[in-house]
Formats: sequence, C-alpha cells, structure tokens
Amino acid sequence: MTDFVLKNTYSSLSSSELIKLEENNMDHKRFKHCIGVSLTARKLAHLNNYDEDKAALAGFIHDYAKQVSVADFRKTIQTQGFDQELLNWGPAIWHGIVGTYFIKRDLKITDPEILTAVRRHTTGDTEMTMLDKIVYMADYIEPGRDFVGVDTARKITFANLDEGVGFQLAHTLNFLIGNRNKVYPRTLAAYNVWSIKDNEEKN
Ligand SMILES: [Fe+2]
Ligand SMILES: [Fe+2]
Repeated sequence: MTDFVLKNTYSSLSSSELIKLEENNMDHKRFKHCIGVSLTARKLAHLNNYDEDKAALAGFIHDYAKQVSVADFRKTIQTQGFDQELLNWGPAIWHGIVGTYFIKRDLKITDPEILTAVRRHTTGDTEMTMLDKIVYMADYIEPGRDFVGVDTARKITFANLDEGVGFQLAHTLNFLIGNRNKVYPRTLAAYNVWSIKDNEEKN
C-alpha cells in the first residue's frame, strides 16, 4: 500500500516511520484493515466536520497492539499501573485499553483524545467523543469488513454517526450473548446509553 498517505502532527516520528512500525507489528491482513479504518475514519470525519488528518491517524493506529502476545499484555498490566481486574479479560479487550501503553512507547503518540479513542474502540463507552465514535464505527464498517448487516451498518453510520454506534453496540451484544460470551460491563453500560430506542417502556 505505497499510496497510503498519513499526515501526522502528533508524533515526533515521521509518517513513514509510523507506517513502518505499524506494518512490522502485525500481519498483512491486519495492516490492510488498519488502512481501511484510517480511510473510513477520514470519510466519517469529513461528514461530521472533524479534523480528517487526526481521525485518519487514530484510525490507522487503533489496532497497533492487536498482535502483542498474551504474556506481554499481562506483564504490562501488572507493571504499568493498569487496573489488575483487567487480568480477568483477554486480548480482545486488552489491545485497546492496554494498547495505549504500546502506542505511547513505540509510536510516541501521547495526544489524550487519540489515546482515548484507541482505549474505547474495543468496548465502547457511555461517554464517547466525536473521535471515539469515528474510530469505533470506522473499525466496524471499513471496506474490508464482510458480515451480515454490514451494508445496513454503513448506511446508518454515514447518515448518522450516533445511530451507527447504537447499531454496532446492539449487534455486538447480540453476538456475545448468542455465543454465551462474557460481556465487558462498560459495553453493556454503553448499550444502555446508545442503543435504546425511544419506544422503550419508560418508568
Ligand atoms: Fe481492535
Ligand atoms: Fe480494528
């Protein structure tokens, strides 16, 4: 993907250094996904009057730590001031929340808004900034994604970012519960904020 361009004002490293580090930290399929998320984040930023270059950078690095080993994640949680309760979860949760440690260390990105978007992209949250929502949705609908409902997800998200968040959370919970998987409490709390329709019974 030599034509991929990243404008970067958030790291002391150059854009090409960031791209190289990212590429070396994951397999090719994951790297292509990150480019897809970056391009989609740029598009969503444009549609929502947000800084396109910042969204593209956050989207590009969101999965930087996706292929860090379990042992490295566990060691990082134990030694870098993370909540020890995280040890009860796995890489699907860690690569966002704990991934920020590796992004700061290796990619030299410390912008709090970018790091928060990375942290929240695996779980969603009750409070989500514009950048959080952009990265969260770009991750879900980038061109490489192929699942039943992805076209609907794209249509909804391009029309209304908040509704996209509600759609993704509902579908994620549905999937997790259908497979009898554990639900991260923050994801459930986020669902209650973003996914509930107005026709719900009100007490
Ligand atoms: Fe991810
Ligand atoms: Fe991702």
